[in-house]
Amino acid sequence: MNRNKWVSLIVSLLLVFSLSFPAFAQLKGEIEIFSWWTAGGEAEGLQALFDIYTKKYPDVKVINATVAGGAGTNAKAVLKTRMLGGDPPDTFQVHAGKELTDTWVKTGFMEPLTDLFKSEGWLKVMPKGILDIVSYRGNYWSVPVNIHRANVLWYNKKVFKDNGLTPPKTFDEFFKVADALKAKGVIPFVLGTKDGWEAAHVFETILIAKLGAEGYKGLWTGKTKWSNPKVTEALEILKKLFTYINPDHSAATWDEAYQYIISGKGAMSIMGDWAAGYFFSKGYPDFGWAPVPETAGVFDALSDSFGLPKGCKNRDNVIAFLRVLGSKEGQEAFNIKKGSIPARTDINKNLFPEYQKSCMEDWMKDTIVPSVIHGAAAAEGWVTEFKDVISLFIARPDISTTQKALIQIANRAGVKQ
Ligand code: GAL
Repeated sequence: MNRNKWVSLIVSLLLVFSLSFPAFAQLKGEIEIFSWWTAGGEAEGLQALFDIYTKKYPDVKVINATVAGGAGTNAKAVLKTRMLGGDPPDTFQVHAGKELTDTWVKTGFMEPLTDLFKSEGWLKVMPKGILDIVSYRGNYWSVPVNIHRANVLWYNKKVFKDNGLTPPKTFDEFFKVADALKAKGVIPFVLGTKDGWEAAHVFETILIAKLGAEGYKGLWTGKTKWSNPKVTEALEILKKLFTYINPDHSAATWDEAYQYIISGKGAMSIMGDWAAGYFFSKGYPDFGWAPVPETAGVFDALSDSFGLPKGCKNRDNVIAFLRVLGSKEGQEAFNIKKGSIPARTDINKNLFPEYQKSCMEDWMKDTIVPSVIHGAAAAEGWVTEFKDVISLFIARPDISTTQKALIQIANRAGVKQ
């Protein structure tokens, strides 16, 4: 073996060793953990992870670097500036799927974590579907801490009961229920659209309703064309939905708007199950949930994860944090608060609220599709344009112009129409 080969062998052994055993050393210093988790439920989940970490490593100071803004709309821009400027946080929140692989892995910003996945036994306890979306070219690149569901209809159970209503299963039923609520002076549909991604989130779920799981998935691969009349139908529904919305929607963030549901002034919303985390944090456990109309049996999925950026300042402290994230204890503590379900299958289901219990069942039997707004289905550039097109649509709801724009941005993303 020549000198270079010896050097690279020693470097690899050191790497494996440091990935596998940093906890044996007494960890010190600090760790900067970057995320957008500031809302009710999000902040509590993150704190639960910090509590476990700080108990294990009392000499490490945790720096909670958050940039507020749902779905990471603001955080992702700050992150990009820091990463490109050679100042990575020690670890950062990133959606498993295209957001991880296309933005950060293919571009060479991350260290592989395959040895950690093996030594922690995660390959045995994490579902294949989740392992697949944190992998690229035979390596694993980030640790998934949860599975969120995006296609949930939330409702105020008491308002429904008082008015003799049941959760709508189709959009026709949805609009009948909405009319009945409106007649009673209740705001039928609640959403905060201040950060510009929320309407696109709702639209993604309507696309699933109208195109079905395969049709929806095909939009992101080119199998389904954006000129499809079902896309037109989905835009029509979104347009109509917004005629039932809280009038201050553009001034409210996703979480602020949910005061309407809690107070009973508003009745229904479509959002991911971080909404459950928010309701828990506000002491309102008695909310109702159902699949978004016409999406029963489909689970629109996403996963939050954290990785190891090359050149981060506190590498050993990060590896210790990633271990907590992937551990049974960490995943239970976090997900109970967050409204999501763990990304490992060996957890104690009995510890969880009813919502997550039912979600765990759906995850096992439903058809899984990847969320686009939350980074799983398409590269970030496309997602940003998609979000902006839909955000514009709710201000100026012109269906044919918008559908043309959706066709154009798909073409620009390299998915030929
Ligand atoms: C999603 C993220 C969730 C939740 C939500 C609202 O993108 O995956 O964990 O935080 O945004 O901020």
